[in-house]
Amino acid sequence: MKSEKKQSILSIRKLNAWYGDRQILINLSFEVQRRQVTALIGPSNSGKSTLVRCLNRLNDFTLNFRFTGEILFKGRDLYASMVDATEVRMQIGMVFRKPIPFRCSIYENVAYGPRISGVNTSVRLDAIVEKSLRRVGLWDEVEPILDGTPDELSIGQQQRLCIARALAVEPDILIFDEPCGELDPMETPKVEALVRNLKADYTLIFVTNKRRQAARVSDFAGFLYCGELIEFGATEKLFTNPQDIRTEQYVTGKLG
Ligand SMILES: Nc1ncnc2c1ncn2[C@@H]1O[C@H](COP(=O)(O)OP(=O)(O)OP(=O)(O)O)[C@@H](O)[C@H]1O
Ligand SMILES: [Mg+2]
Repeated sequence: MKSEKKQSILSIRKLNAWYGDRQILINLSFEVQRRQVTALIGPSNSGKSTLVRCLNRLNDFTLNFRFTGEILFKGRDLYASMVDATEVRMQIGMVFRKPIPFRCSIYENVAYGPRISGVNTSVRLDAIVEKSLRRVGLWDEVEPILDGTPDELSIGQQQRLCIARALAVEPDILIFDEPCGELDPMETPKVEALVRNLKADYTLIFVTNKRRQAARVSDFAGFLYCGELIEFGATEKLFTNPQDIRTEQYVTGKLG
């Protein structure tokens, strides 16, 4: 029987995190497998956003934040002194709950990242913009209005534009922090389908507090509760045969 060996791309080891004196994350350890969807689930305030913001160094901007432990990206310490945080944020992209397109044209939203990382011919930029917009299923919808502003788009289209913007710099990992939180029910299945489809080429981390959504999109899942990673493993197992009573209560809707 042919079995594909899973490979870890990100290792989180004994991660503790604080805002000021208040501990938010407590001794978390888990591995993120390459080209798989890893969901992080848990009630509001359980620390999901704090955790994913550690993974692409967004908490660097938060003055009262500190952490202990280790995060290894492809075996290298993400916080080592020689690591450039801006580069990290290109390799590990982030898509937020509320889509916030840049205040420029649809084309420029996608071209911006490649341009600042050195792509400077319009032929190459055009190709990247088209490829990225096609990848998120937006090209046919926006081709006639590439010079228009993103305000002309629905919220769901704006979210897919933000995903295309993140893809344009060819990241290894894309983190989605509740990407469907602001979308209407028609747009949500498109983003879910896109996430499942993107794992052919990317590693995805998908934060959600919708249990069934996590079950639909992910291969692995971690359940966070009050800053602790209560359980982590294959999604199917976590949902159908959880090992911890709190996981069972959460996935069946009795907790949180
Ligand atoms: N910059 C900050 N300074 C101080 N406390 C913060 C900061 N950001 C978040 N917190 C606190 O950290 C805790 C965890 O917040 P976090 O946003 O990580 O939770 P979450 O699981 O993402 O919640 P939600 O599902 O509502 O998005 C909360 O109690 C929150 O109030
Ligand atoms: Mg959050």
